[in-house]
Amino acid sequence: MATLVGVPKETADGERRVALVPEVAGRLADRDFRVVVERGAGETAHHADDAYEDAGATVADRAEALGADVVTCVQALPDDDLDQLNDGAALVGLLAPLDEPERARSLAERGVTALAMELVPRISRAQKMDALSAMSSIGGYKAALMAAHKLPRFFPLLTTAAGTIRPATVLVLGAGVAGLQAIATAQRLGAKALAYDIRAAAAEEVESLGAEFVELEFETQKKNEDTGGYAEELQQEKQERQTELLVPHIGNADAVITTALIPGRPAPVLVNEDAVRAMVPGSVIVDLAATGGGNCALTEPGETITRHDVTIMGPRNLPATLPVHASQLYARTVAALLEEFVDAEDGVRADFEDDIFEGACLTHDGEIRSERVRSVLEASAES
Ligand code: NAI
Repeated sequence: MATLVGVPKETADGERRVALVPEVAGRLADRDFRVVVERGAGETAHHADDAYEDAGATVADRAEALGADVVTCVQALPDDDLDQLNDGAALVGLLAPLDEPERARSLAERGVTALAMELVPRISRAQKMDALSAMSSIGGYKAALMAAHKLPRFFPLLTTAAGTIRPATVLVLGAGVAGLQAIATAQRLGAKALAYDIRAAAAEEVESLGAEFVELEFETQKKNEDTGGYAEELQQEKQERQTELLVPHIGNADAVITTALIPGRPAPVLVNEDAVRAMVPGSVIVDLAATGGGNCALTEPGETITRHDVTIMGPRNLPATLPVHASQLYARTVAALLEEFVDAEDGVRADFEDDIFEGACLTHDGEIRSERVRSVLEASAES
């Protein structure tokens, strides 16, 4: 029998994405997979059950989607759902392995082969499976729109009969995938964009977008090869110094968008209360690191608050607010992973000789395979 790929409906609060969209379900069906989608799974992403059926998938109840050989999800499944997976089933999704490492234990106990999209290594062969980058760019785009929407000023330069209005200044802290998209979007809306990042390599990327890179009298991180493109956490003293140096730059911005995350660690504080106080009344901060505690010391994750007459937004899941394209891009990254490691006849090929499988595999055969996750678990057991 052909390998069965299941798509349960997402259950997390506010989640509107779906793991596979009809286009991608059809692509898998064309490659001789069978796809079973829970009734209504695509509704919040504007995909009706009929569209899945037209693409060659079957629409059924949740138990059938969970009973597949390979279950795909956006956010991790709750334990009750894990109990319904078949012996030896595979699970592919954004499983938050470093932020919620205990989940690896439940997955291992149940013998699940879990592939975490976040653990796919950042090598060029794996770019088409890079779900994090796809979701980050949506976050960056939406953050710039939120800043423009909330700011009590124009973004663009305007010349009117009543005089000229200067463009808004948007400062982006953390110029990775989300930050670069926030810069590009803010500029398209006519704002002047500046950005800062701890990685020296980011300066060139920022400038290639026509934005200004903010130089601090502070050491940037030159080597990033061994960290897979991720920034490393700074020592506390250096972090405090960085935050102090940023205060005047933040004070000059009408809107600040922060995106600095360190996987598995609390987000660094880049905007302290002094910096918020230094901003012009009515200014806006959009903190994309809210899920990691926030880059702004005053951020309340999931909330929009006003402090010192500055609006501080801490959205938790911006990709879910653009569910059509977020689901489409996400589904493509999931399908790329499946096509590489799941055979349409024989199911998952657990190929630990392959860098991508080895990197992405969270649990297999009752064991936690990811060394990074094991060390996070060991560190939390010691503390
Ligand atoms: P991320 O989401 O982990 O972090 C966002 C940004 O915050 C990063 O640019 C990081 O350097 C910055 N940051 C962290 N701590 C900071 C601090 N204390 N102060 C200022 N900035 C700080 O990173 P993201 O966006 O996922 O990727 C970062 C970079 O990785 C990309 O720009 C790219 O160069 C590289 N990358 C490579 C890929 C590949 O080779 N396939 C795929 C995706 C990204």
